[in-house]
Amino acid sequence: MIVRRLVFDGYRNLAKGEIYPCENVNVIYGKNAQGKTNLLEALWLFSGNRSFRGAKDSEFIGFGKEKADLITEFYSEERVQNAEIIFQKGKKEVKLNGIKQNSVNKLMGKLCIVVFSPEHLSMVKRGPAERRKFIDSAICQIRPNFSDTLSEYNKLLIQRNAILKDLNYHSDLSDIMDIWEERLAVYGASVIRMRINYTERLSDTAEKYHLGISEGKEKLNISYSCGFTDEICSDRESLVNDYIQKLRESRKNDIKDGATSIGPHRDDITLEINGENLRSFGSQGQQRSAVLSMKIAEAELIKQATEQEPIVLLDDVLSELDSRRQKFLLNKIDNRQVFISCCERASADRLEGGKLFYVENGEIMAV
Ligand SMILES: Nc1ncnc2c1ncn2[C@@H]1O[C@H](COP(=O)(O)OP(=O)(O)OP(=O)(O)O)[C@@H](O)[C@H]1O
Ligand SMILES: [Mg+2]
Repeated sequence: MIVRRLVFDGYRNLAKGEIYPCENVNVIYGKNAQGKTNLLEALWLFSGNRSFRGAKDSEFIGFGKEKADLITEFYSEERVQNAEIIFQKGKKEVKLNGIKQNSVNKLMGKLCIVVFSPEHLSMVKRGPAERRKFIDSAICQIRPNFSDTLSEYNKLLIQRNAILKDLNYHSDLSDIMDIWEERLAVYGASVIRMRINYTERLSDTAEKYHLGISEGKEKLNISYSCGFTDEICSDRESLVNDYIQKLRESRKNDIKDGATSIGPHRDDITLEINGENLRSFGSQGQQRSAVLSMKIAEAELIKQATEQEPIVLLDDVLSELDSRRQKFLLNKIDNRQVFISCCERASADRLEGGKLFYVENGEIMAV
């Protein structure tokens, strides 16, 4: 997938204009608060997702403007297509190839985009919930039915937790609990097995990129940690049976805690470099490099699943990386269209080929 042209009018601080990116690496540089992230965000919205900054639609409209109008021409599914999103106070209009769509969701899958923004570092720095969120949304991109499995699991979990509270007063509920636990184990086992499968593939691919970024010095390993052994997890039926047994065994304690102590909502993804935990022992640059490797690996897995190369947006990734790591990133992640924002002209100069854009006060100029 390739973005050929992006037009913006009334979008945040961006002055009315357009860009024609190149097919490989595009570097957007400029001082702080000039509009670099705004430009990447405008592109990202064509993925059909909400802003990666968690912004509301009304925030996209430039101060004092009536509306924000975004248009893109892109190459996908072996043809040139176009899309338009117009944000107006309280409403938005979406068009795909000139045809009005009732929701921005209709753009999903048309232009696949993977984004890295500094907030993604929370995947390393914060707790397991952030890592589960990353894995889950990555799986959803290539297996749309995973989101149904996950939401069914969450519903069943809420049910079990509700019954746990009532069991104190109504012991006759224990037969019903048996049935809920069996269902919970079936869905929970599916979630676990899909996450393990994805994590293994992500690990192999991310390891390759991380070795490249670190000039062969660092071996990144990503693994799924859960309350069941690898052997049990490798067989669906064994996992479901062991899961049911563990739920029954923990029921007494779970009643005391009022929560379910085992299952994918408690699992974690372990990130290690050369066998050391990245969160506890990794340097800033190592953590940033690892998350980047995971993001590029995510793009590669989308490519394998959909046979289309997604677009990669890297917001502010070059800071904290030394010149050799920067050079690798700028020049060795070819075969796909990439947009990288940075503040330093010196970083931009490490780009061999590709295209440079300079941003000042919302004006974007091809250099
Ligand atoms: N709706 C809006 N209308 C006008 N200006 C806006 C709007 N939303 C954000 N801005 C302004 O856009 C400016 C540029 O923001 P942006 O996040 O793109 O900066 P940046 O170039 O990525 O900077 P940094 O290097 O610090 O990340 C900000 O100063 C912000 O005040
Ligand atoms: Mg920014």
